[in-house]
Amino acid sequence: MATKHFTRIWDLKKEEALKLIERALELKRSKTWERKFTGKILGLIFEKPSTRTRISFESAIIKWGGDSVFLSSRDLQLSRGEPIKDTARVLSRYVDILVLRTYKQETIEEFARYSSIPVINGLSDRFHPCQVLSDIMTVMEKGKDLYRDKIVWIGDGNNVAQSWIEAASLLGFKLTLSCPEGFEPEKELVETAKKKYGAQIEIVHSPEEAIKDAEVINTDVWVSMGQEEETQKRSLAFKNFQVNSKLLQMASPSAIVLHCLPAHREEEITEEVLEGPQSVVWDQAENKMWLHMALIEFLLESN
Ligand code: CP
Ligand code: NVA
Repeated sequence: MATKHFTRIWDLKKEEALKLIERALELKRSKTWERKFTGKILGLIFEKPSTRTRISFESAIIKWGGDSVFLSSRDLQLSRGEPIKDTARVLSRYVDILVLRTYKQETIEEFARYSSIPVINGLSDRFHPCQVLSDIMTVMEKGKDLYRDKIVWIGDGNNVAQSWIEAASLLGFKLTLSCPEGFEPEKELVETAKKKYGAQIEIVHSPEEAIKDAEVINTDVWVSMGQEEETQKRSLAFKNFQVNSKLLQMASPSAIVLHCLPAHREEEITEEVLEGPQSVVWDQAENKMWLHMALIEFLLESN
């Protein structure tokens, strides 16, 4: 049987995604679990910095009774040109499950092709699937209804936005994105989402139009890791896309605001909104750990 990986949301079936989120909510609520993965090792290879993803995965495996090994890709022979396919086959002999954070999505996909252990995407240029599963967990935890409430994305059509698109199409909820012209998500991805899943993805350029009556508002940085040389161009293009109290007033009064963090205050979001009563970012960050526990369990038990 082929090894099951989690390189993008579309690797999952709808029931699997919903079950993972429910399991994460249950783990968080009950705080009870068997330390059933004693002796299992989670490897983490990161090409980019991380606070939340790294530590929440490390805590998650430790809570299950296992252990973790973290390596920056700089310290591996990968940095001296050892092929990904060789690294994948060697690491498969040392650890039981692996999280990768890379510049390119293809690196994760190639790694997964050669790996006999489950590979998890811990963020790439195109996707951040773990993030979005735990974001949806937060949306549900806060009592919002994916199928009735308006869910919007304000800002860059980036890796997190693209995982939201995959989640909306897989789970069948409507998603409205508002991005500046030229910074929309990949056309092909949106077309596939519509064709393959009948997804309801709406892309508008006006943040005011998008946020009207929204119950769930998502945003993220204007400059993702690896795009630093575009900072000036992006600051200009995104200047009307800040999530601030004026914009928030156009949403439903009971709307919640999500940001995967790290946030740049006074750029994509103001301090007032980030620290305000509608922000759920700290619970959102915590939920990564519960979701990662559920994901480790799901992958170790289905492989
Ligand atoms: N949200 C998120 O992935 O944060 P880190 O970059 O700190 O892992
Ligand atoms: N879009 C951001 C998310 C960081 C967690 C980035 O890729 O840098």
